[in-house]
Amino acid sequence: MSVLDFDLSDRGFWAKPMTEREEAFERLRSLRAPAFFEEMEMSYAPKGPGYYALVKHADILEASRNPEVFCSGDGGATNIPDMPAEFAEYFGSMINMDDPRHARLRRIVSRAFTPKMIKQFEADVEAAAVGIVDDLVAKGSGCDFVTEVAARLPLKIICDMMGIPERDYQFVFDRSNLILGGFDPEYTGGDLEQLAEKLLNAGMELQQLVQDLAAHRADHPTNDLTSSLVNANIDGERLTMQELGSFFILLVVAGNETTRNAISYGLRLLTKNPDQRALWLADVDGRAPGAVEEIVRLASPVNYMRRKVTRDFEMNGHLYREGLKVVLFYWAANRDEAVFRDPLSFDITRHPNPHVGYGGPGPHFCLGAHLARREITVMFRELLRRVPNIEGGRPDRLHSSFINGIKHMECTF
Ligand code: HEM
Repeated sequence: MSVLDFDLSDRGFWAKPMTEREEAFERLRSLRAPAFFEEMEMSYAPKGPGYYALVKHADILEASRNPEVFCSGDGGATNIPDMPAEFAEYFGSMINMDDPRHARLRRIVSRAFTPKMIKQFEADVEAAAVGIVDDLVAKGSGCDFVTEVAARLPLKIICDMMGIPERDYQFVFDRSNLILGGFDPEYTGGDLEQLAEKLLNAGMELQQLVQDLAAHRADHPTNDLTSSLVNANIDGERLTMQELGSFFILLVVAGNETTRNAISYGLRLLTKNPDQRALWLADVDGRAPGAVEEIVRLASPVNYMRRKVTRDFEMNGHLYREGLKVVLFYWAANRDEAVFRDPLSFDITRHPNPHVGYGGPGPHFCLGAHLARREITVMFRELLRRVPNIEGGRPDRLHSSFINGIKHMECTF
């Protein structure tokens, strides 16, 4: 990069303070054409052809609307280097596929995500949030908000949905942290050379867990998602055991590592913006929808998704060459000054708020968006009612380019 003095493919970039990250992406947004970056060297994948960093809201919308040009298969959407073939067994679920395979899987699983199913879980979300805040109050000020509050709700909900018993929560949590641990030694153990093996192991263990459960549910169905997924539904379509395993991995990872960070960033935003807290407190339920969208916009827990260009294509005045990659930086688009007035300010009354925190408009738009909104809403409703003055201290951030994560954050109240 000649004109830029930073490199998005440099691990060190992602450890810099947030203000530096903000400045770097502001600069990228001000460029006439998207910047191109070489890919980083990985021990488990050959170096790829490089990628354009899409940082403008308009580019992300347009790329998302053209999935046949900007595809998610052919190496995967959740990683910049092409995913090695042996990873596909565990991590090759629908998020890393294109239609028609993607559509078939999404059709089967969304039938299990029926409004009735979600409704049933809404009551569970409320009960779980009440229990978590009970425990927080009992523990008292000074505990780790991430592990004691933010992480517990999505973990419990996703495990309950699938029928995973409570004794396995920690097992699931540790493996999901490792899978999305980025470059962070706390989750990955520090040795990036051995990371591929650890990832495969974590994938295998999660797959085994759900396949054992599925074998039981095939004969003894309950009302959980695993039962609906292993038993043939109306059109006779069902998932194979491999598809079930990789979908479960997608679900636990997507469900855990995102909502947790939205809740943690939400507390940090309230701490930094007492005027917005006062506004929300004045009408806890009425303000919730706007506040939750604004939290997801600024938190952008999923920093990016990647696509591969399937044919030469001109978009918003720029030519994208076949075979190259594009990375859709949702976090950056959610700060695009062309769309959001005063983009860095936390404004729970922001309207409209067309953020792309759950992805752009297209076939991969977040399957769990409704559930995530519910979880964040209910968690803050409980917190604001029972510990209205709760504050989050300095966040201990995850070292990752993919997930905007907070590993630990002391809370006081
Ligand atoms: C604040 C919380 C969340 C955020 C920010 C988030 C973000 C995203 C994003 C950006 C995508 C788009 C992927 C793409 O375009 O390639 C996505 C897809 C997905 N999300 Fe979420 N997500 C959240 C919560 C959840 C939850 C709770 C679940 C599960 C219950 C979930 C399950 C999924 C699945 C299965 C997909 C893949 C959809 C597909 O490929 O068709 N997400 N999410």
